[in-house]
Parts: sequence; structure tokens; C-alpha cells
Amino acid sequence: MINIQLFFLVFLKVYILLITLYPSGASEEFCTKPDGKCDEEKINKYSKENNAEFQKFLQAIREAKEQYIPCKESKCSCHANVITNDLKTFGDGITKKLLDSVNSKGTKYQIIDHHLYREQSCMFPARCAGVEHFLLELLPKLPDTEFILNPRDWPQIHKNYGLFGPVFSFSKTSQYNDILYPAWAFWEGGPAISLYPRGIGRWDQHRNILGTLGNTTKWEDKIAKAFFRGSRTSSERDPLVLLSREKPDLVDAQYTKNQAWKSDADTLHAPPAKEVSFEEHCKYKYLFNFRGVAASFRFKHMFLCKSVVFHVGNEWIEFFYPALKPWVHYVPVDSNATKEQLEKLLDFIKEHDDVAKKIAEDGYNMIWNNLKMKDVSCYWKKLLKRYTKLLTYKPVLDKSLIEIKK
Ligand SMILES: *[C@@H]1O[C@H](CO)[C@@H](O)[C@H](O)[C@H]1NC(C)=O
Ligand SMILES: *[C@@H]1O[C@H](CO)[C@@H](O)[C@H](O)[C@H]1NC(C)=O
Repeated sequence: MINIQLFFLVFLKVYILLITLYPSGASEEFCTKPDGKCDEEKINKYSKENNAEFQKFLQAIREAKEQYIPCKESKCSCHANVITNDLKTFGDGITKKLLDSVNSKGTKYQIIDHHLYREQSCMFPARCAGVEHFLLELLPKLPDTEFILNPRDWPQIHKNYGLFGPVFSFSKTSQYNDILYPAWAFWEGGPAISLYPRGIGRWDQHRNILGTLGNTTKWEDKIAKAFFRGSRTSSERDPLVLLSREKPDLVDAQYTKNQAWKSDADTLHAPPAKEVSFEEHCKYKYLFNFRGVAASFRFKHMFLCKSVVFHVGNEWIEFFYPALKPWVHYVPVDSNATKEQLEKLLDFIKEHDDVAKKIAEDGYNMIWNNLKMKDVSCYWKKLLKRYTKLLTYKPVLDKSLIEIKK
């Protein structure tokens, strides 16, 4: 018995010795290729993982295409259901009492007998002027009405708390009952940066310049890189900027200064980059759009480059966002996407250049055909007509208001 145990122990020791002497035994089974070939195998394995990931993207694209029903491209009908949804909340009618109860949430406007009136003071005069441009133009066609217009960035009527009533806001999330109106920035009052010191300015002019550039810049001549410039208004933007520092061949994303900038810490520990014009953006194939304080005004401009827009987060909308469909007109990106997820998404789009080119073209066409100045006016008109039908009373001129003229 003892002998057998001893024999077994010796056998075990020799076995262990052999294994430690030739540790490559196991890995040789994995790598049986001559020098260098094993790396190739690893790359294949890596791309197989990528392929599973890529299949998910391709599947999402297929599904988006299947579900996509093109809207009727006339009389701003592509955006009409936004009005329907926003006004549904007030389907029982808007009483004078209800309107007065939210007076403090914005600036009061009246249209009486085709004249426009407003509260004396507007918190942001350029924003009110940007709105009034459209209202003045439409006056001959508008019914007598009154409404509260919120010129701030943030919506005012939360679904779960605070006041309830009809307030017009330019941007909101699904948490709010505000009624969307086309932002002032289509005409004036947009954010001022050093390149556009008087605000980003008139949409009709940008449309023509960028729309032409988008049509005349060949897809093949664009730089196959993701591009972003903007200030650090939220840390949602950090993963892309960090990826850019690691993989400058894949991404060029840098923070610019904003008014609050004090040191490099405010630009994620790197010197601030220069601001870049919309035209300059058009040189790149992939453009990233992040929300700012609310929705970002530059979103619409990017489409006219005829580059692929990567839209991060889907919470904040303006009136024309719902007409744009993920994977049809833009590439959707989770607002909490990690550096690794961003890299994978960019790898995918780079490897599927035909898919990318198609999204870029469809995005361009959607904005070019359905976000003309005429569509913005049309939306205002449709909104005010439908809204006014909900008023349970006939507005009479409020003598405390001032008349706004051209
Ligand atoms: C760009 O091309 C599209 C499609 O051919 C066309 O409809 C559009 O009018 C063009 N845009 C400009 C600014 O010329
Ligand atoms: C990121 O957000 C999505 C929803 O947009 C959520 O499903 C997911 O769990 C989030 N991931 C992380 C890591 O927080």
C-alpha cells in the first residue's frame, strides 16, 4: 500500500515538473501557426466580436427602414403631429383663467385684428425679435388670439409638479407639457460665439451656404473622422473628447472656451481649441451633436453638410426633431455611451461606408426639403390656428401691452 502511494506521489511530482518545464504545451494548442500568424488569429477573433456587434447595428438599420413611413412633404405636414400631440393635453379647452394662471412663465403676446401686441419687457429682446419676425409676416392670416411665450432655454410646465397651463417653449423633453414653437434662432437671437458674435444667425442664409457646400463636396473627399467642437456644457461630451486624445486618427473632438472658462481644467485638462465654423465641419464625414443646456441649435446645420450626424441622447427635442428618424436620417448614440462604445460605433460606420453615405444623403434631404423658412412659418401658422380653436373665450385687447411693428 505504502509503495503504491509513494509511486503515485513520485509520478505526480514528475508530472508537475514536466508541466512547469514546458508551459507552452497548452498555448501551443492555441497557436500552432508559424511566427506572426497567431496575431492574425487574434485579430480575426476580435473582428468576430465586432461582427456580432456590427450585426446588431445592421439589424437596427433594417428595422428602422422597415418601420419608416416617409411623411408628406408639403405644408409642413412632416411636423404636424407634434402640434397634435402638444395640444392634446389641452383638448378640454383653454379658459382665460388657465391662461392667466401661467402668465408668470413667459411673455404674453396678443394678436388682435391682425396686429401684434406684447408685454413691454421681454427677458431676451433678441429672442423675442426672432419670434416676432415670423408672427409679423403671418399677421394677415392669423386669428385673434393670445398666448404665453417662454423665451428661456428651459421648458416650464412639468408633467408631475408645478403649474399647469399652456406655455409655448422652443425645446422640451417628454417630461413636459409645454407647447413647442419654432425657435427664435431661425431668424436671430441664437447663441453668440466668437465666429458669430451677433448670434449664429439666419437659418435661410446658412441653409443656402451649407446646402450648396453639402451638394458640392464629394463624399469621397471628406475626412473619415468624427468631428466635434464645443464647450464643456455637460460631461456627456467627455468620452468622445477622451477618445479623440487616444485615437486622433479616428476622432477630432476638442473643447472650446465658454464664458465660464477659467483654466484648462474647464476644458478637461487641455488647452481650449478654437471655435470652428459650420463650413469647416463639412470637411468631415462624421459630425457629433450633443445637447447643450436644452436642445442644440447646431443640429440642423450639420445635416446640410451631407455628413453623417451622430446624435447623442434623444431626450431634448425641438419641433422638427420627431420627423428625423434614428438610423434613417442620423446615427443615434446613447447619452451615456462609453469611449469603447463610441469607438465600436465609429468602426462600424467606417467599415460600412455605403450605409454611412446613404444616411448622410437622407438626413440632408429631410432637412433641406422640410425645414425651409416657409416650413417654419407654416408651422407657426398651423400651431396658432389650432391652438386658438381651443380658447374657450374671445381675447380682447389687453391695454397694458405694446404694439410690435415691423
Ligand atoms: C442639393 O441637391 C438636392 C438633390 O439633388 C437638391 O434637391 C437641392 O436643391 C440641392 N441644394 C442646393 C442648395 O442646391
Ligand atoms: C444607458 O442608457 C440606456 C438608456 O438610454 C440604458 O438602457 C442603459 O442601461 C444605460 N447604461 C448605463 C451603463 O448606464
